[in-house]
Amino acid sequence: MKNSEDNIDNDEDNNNIAKEDANEISKSEEENSEIIEDNKYNAEILSLPNEFPDYHINFKVIVIGNSSVGKTCITNQATKNFFPNNYQATIGMEIYSLFLKIDKKIIKLQIWDTCGQEIYRSLITNFYRSSSLAIIVYAINKRESFKDLSLWIKELKLNNSPDTKIILVGNKLDLENERKIEYEEGKQFADDYGFIDFFETSAKTGENIKKMFIKIANILYEDHLKYSEEISYGSKTSSSNNHQLKKKKKVKDKKKCC
Ligand code: GTP
Repeated sequence: MKNSEDNIDNDEDNNNIAKEDANEISKSEEENSEIIEDNKYNAEILSLPNEFPDYHINFKVIVIGNSSVGKTCITNQATKNFFPNNYQATIGMEIYSLFLKIDKKIIKLQIWDTCGQEIYRSLITNFYRSSSLAIIVYAINKRESFKDLSLWIKELKLNNSPDTKIILVGNKLDLENERKIEYEEGKQFADDYGFIDFFETSAKTGENIKKMFIKIANILYEDHLKYSEEISYGSKTSSSNNHQLKKKKKVKDKKKCC
């Protein structure tokens, strides 16, 4: 009797575990469905080591903004699912890698996390070069970090192409009760400057971090496809031009001989 009661208890436990698992799965599906909205090429974040060598395409992404807005924490959350509790100012910059599978290819986002401290600012301008995209970060609870955005934009445009794609990020979304910059104000700023997107994130809870990097991967991959198409179109037209030139030459040669 005791055994069958135990079995019933075990069955109930198993059922409960299965229900919890199912809830977990549907919860993660819900989270993913939020991510998939903007995921035209079905990008998927991969857990690969920083130095993984076998990727198809590499994009450089630079992260800039005032000191303490959370640039390092955003990068750590995206690449290592990790939120460092203690603050350590970045000196110069650090490079992280985030790998994604997209359209059966592995792409590497090489993320350059720069320091925001004013004394080092002149040092980091060299790092801006050849970035495919810049993430400019402010903290939603620090008005000064929002005011300084125009300085960061100016620096970026001076030291990289003026057409650099920019994503604006209002970080520390979990500090809602300390909020100084409303969502609409951030969004308006991003629209006015023609940025490609705007996100509010929390590096602490991870909210919107993966979603943002998936969006970035989609944008950069789409650009890459357009660029490759232009190149192959260009080479086709030039080879057909060559072909026509060759034909004309033959006609000329014929005329000469008659
Ligand atoms: P610099 O290296 O000086 O340029 O700073 P940073 O922009 O890289 O800031 P960092 O990521 O080092 O974070 C600064 C502080 O803010 C740390 O104490 C973090 O714990 C905290 N922080 C970062 N992101 C968040 C967040 O989303 N929410 C909360 N509550 N705290 C955060």
